[in-house]
Amino acid sequence: MSSSDTPSAHDLQALATATPERTDAFWMPFTANRQFKKSPRLLASAEGMYYRSVDGREVLDGTAGLWCVNAGHGHPHIVGAIQKQAATLDYAPAFQMGHPLPFILAERLAAIAPDPLKHVFFTNSGSESVDTALKIALAYHRVRGEGQRTRLIGREKGYHGVGFGGISVGGMVNNRKFFGSMLPGVDHLPHTLDIKRNGFSRGLPARGAELAEDLERIVALHDASTIAAVIIEPISGSAGVVLPPEGYLKRIREICDKHGILLIFDEVITGFGRVGKAFAAQRFGVVPDMITTAKGLTNGAVPMGAVFTSKGIHDAFMHGPEGAIELFHGYTYSGHPLACAAALATLDVYESEGLFEKSIELGPYWEDAIHSLKGLPNVIDVRNYGLVGAVELAARPEGVGQRGYEVFNRCYFEQNLMVRCTGDVIALSPPLILNKEHIDRIFDRLAATIRATA
Ligand SMILES: Cc1ncc(COP(=O)(O)O)c(C=O)c1O
Repeated sequence: MSSSDTPSAHDLQALATATPERTDAFWMPFTANRQFKKSPRLLASAEGMYYRSVDGREVLDGTAGLWCVNAGHGHPHIVGAIQKQAATLDYAPAFQMGHPLPFILAERLAAIAPDPLKHVFFTNSGSESVDTALKIALAYHRVRGEGQRTRLIGREKGYHGVGFGGISVGGMVNNRKFFGSMLPGVDHLPHTLDIKRNGFSRGLPARGAELAEDLERIVALHDASTIAAVIIEPISGSAGVVLPPEGYLKRIREICDKHGILLIFDEVITGFGRVGKAFAAQRFGVVPDMITTAKGLTNGAVPMGAVFTSKGIHDAFMHGPEGAIELFHGYTYSGHPLACAAALATLDVYESEGLFEKSIELGPYWEDAIHSLKGLPNVIDVRNYGLVGAVELAARPEGVGQRGYEVFNRCYFEQNLMVRCTGDVIALSPPLILNKEHIDRIFDRLAATIRATA
């Protein structure tokens, strides 16, 4: 292979297996590098519901990549739009210059967002969306003369990406403990996972709304006048699919309103149809002041994130001399032409194929299928909502996460099924184009693997 050729699947396999030392240079993210490189899981291509591995196997995608490929892989409309855009305008400066696409995209996004979230700030990832939203929250209070509101409140088990803001408000210990003291002045709500009281709930758990009251305790401790914002995922994904108890989100909204605290929903995984509406905010009937997104925005095809803000937040900045920059924040690639083209085409597909409604249509079938795993060896909980699912397994005595990893690895190599494992939780979030046969296949294969891993 010459250095300018695109590597073929054969080249990739040779690279991965025949010369393992050639895999050494790439330091893989969130991966057990040494373990992976001994037995790589390498994907060469993808179409629709399936990946093709470098050794030629068709692997059913139970996770939409990493919760992003909601419209399925290689959709011709999205692929065509990216190709065309690359040949038309590759890049335009993002600061004090522009091109039409982000304006058009923001308008289309505002149209599907809940009122009053009608302004959009573009980023390149979920992590950047989170840090952007946290910065906007702090700056918003400052431009209104309440600059003492500097505290940010996250939640245990929360995942908000890997920036210093995101890990500070996040609540996953391994993502925090290596990285020093992070942002000062952050506090955390308790998480809402309660297997004892809510195990094997179908849909939202019935018990636990009272956990929202902990926000009043935090307010009493720090005083509302010091708190800028609360950030939570409506459904926590990365920590193993933790669902909000009935009434919980509504109560958080009420307490935030009472104390003038902004509420941010991190919808990086729940946005763009995962739970049956464009955003979980709409499905749950609770509207925050900002929504952070990424992933499904472009179907994962080009990196992009977006922060939706209310009109009130946006307009608070639009004062002072017209020639003054209102917000000293942004990225070289904010509103990148290729990302915008991918996002616009993705929105076309969501609309023309009715994909946001798929989670509601298929939700009951998905729910029955995943709950059929109850009673299999080591299954200690099953959780589901929309087209999201989690099967929690008992940890092996040798260590947390070992059984989960074995199920994930065996699903991939023995059952041609891609799932996610986080600790001993097997998480599922398939592309929204799936049908009932795909659902049957996912759970037949997962059940066989769980039995084999007993
Ligand atoms: C809720 C949430 N926020 C933020 C992120 C970070 O997104 P990214 O990996 O694009 O930075 C993720 C990623 O999974 C996420 O699930």
